[in-house]
Amino acid sequence: MSAPGRHERTGWIDLTGWWLSEADDPAYREEVIPLFLKVFRPVRDHVLLDLGCGDGRIQDLVAARGVKAIGVDINLELAGIAARRHPVFLHRLPDLACVRDAAVDGAYVVLALEHFEGSQRFFSETARVTRGGGALTVVINHPVYMAPRSGPVIDQTDGELLWRFGRYLSRGNSFEPAGDQAIEFRHRPVGVLLTAAAGAGWHLEEIREEGVAAETAARDDLAALHGDIPRLMAIRWRRRSRPGPPPKR
Ligand SMILES: C[S@@+](CC[C@H](N)C(=O)[O-])C[C@H]1O[C@@H](n2cnc3c(N)ncnc32)[C@H](O)[C@@H]1O
Repeated sequence: MSAPGRHERTGWIDLTGWWLSEADDPAYREEVIPLFLKVFRPVRDHVLLDLGCGDGRIQDLVAARGVKAIGVDINLELAGIAARRHPVFLHRLPDLACVRDAAVDGAYVVLALEHFEGSQRFFSETARVTRGGGALTVVINHPVYMAPRSGPVIDQTDGELLWRFGRYLSRGNSFEPAGDQAIEFRHRPVGVLLTAAAGAGWHLEEIREEGVAAETAARDDLAALHGDIPRLMAIRWRRRSRPGPPPKR
C-alpha cells in the first residue's frame, strides 16, 4: 500500500499518540495479538528482548505467561510507559551492541521490524545475543500487503476484488498514513527475509499468514472482501546451537 503524498513524513519519536490509538483499535486486539500468541512459545523464566516494545502491552502478555521481557524502543514516551511495569532501554534498533553475546533466551518483535533499517543486521544481531536453542518470533504486516504501490483493485467486468502486487519483488520503502502524518515502512520480499534469517543461523520452525479476522469481516463489508489477501505474517525461528570446539585427537 502507498500513502497519499499530502501527509508530512515523520519518525517514531513523534507518533506516541497515534500508536496508542492504533493499538487500542479492535483489529490489533482481534488480529495481531491472537496471531502472536499462536506462534509464540512461552517458557517460564526465559529472558527475552521485546524489540520495538512500544508501551509494553506485549510485555504484559508474556509476563502473564512467566516470561521476563526486556523492552527496547526508540520512542522515549512509549518506552517510559512500558518502563512503569517492565525493564526497558532506549535504543535504536536493529543494533544491539549494548547486549553481550548469548545473553538472552531469545527475542520477539511485533509490528516493528518493518520500521528497522537493515533486516540482515536485525537477524545477525538477534542471533548473536541469543543463546543456542533460543527462539525468535516476528509478527509483521505481510510484505504482499505492504509492498510499495500494492493495493486493492476492483475488476470492472465482474466487481471482484483483486490485489495489485505493486513493487513486491524489489526492496523499497513506502510512507503510510499515521494520523495526519506519514511513517516509513521498509519493504522486504518474503524470500529476502527468510534468506537473511537462515544466513544468520536461524532455523525456521513455523510461518503463519493471515487475512482479515472473522470479527473484523463481520463489522466491515469492505474488509470482508479482503479475506484471502494476506495481511499479517508471523514466523518463529530457533537459534542453531553454536558449533562446539573441534574434538581433541
Ligand atoms: C507499531 S509499534 C509496535 C509496538 C509494540 N511492539 C506493540 O505491538 O504494541 C512500533 C514500535 O517500534 C518502535 N521503533 C520503530 N523503529 C525503531 C527503531 N529503529 N529502534 C527502536 N524502536 C523502534 C516504535 O517507537 C514503536 O514503539
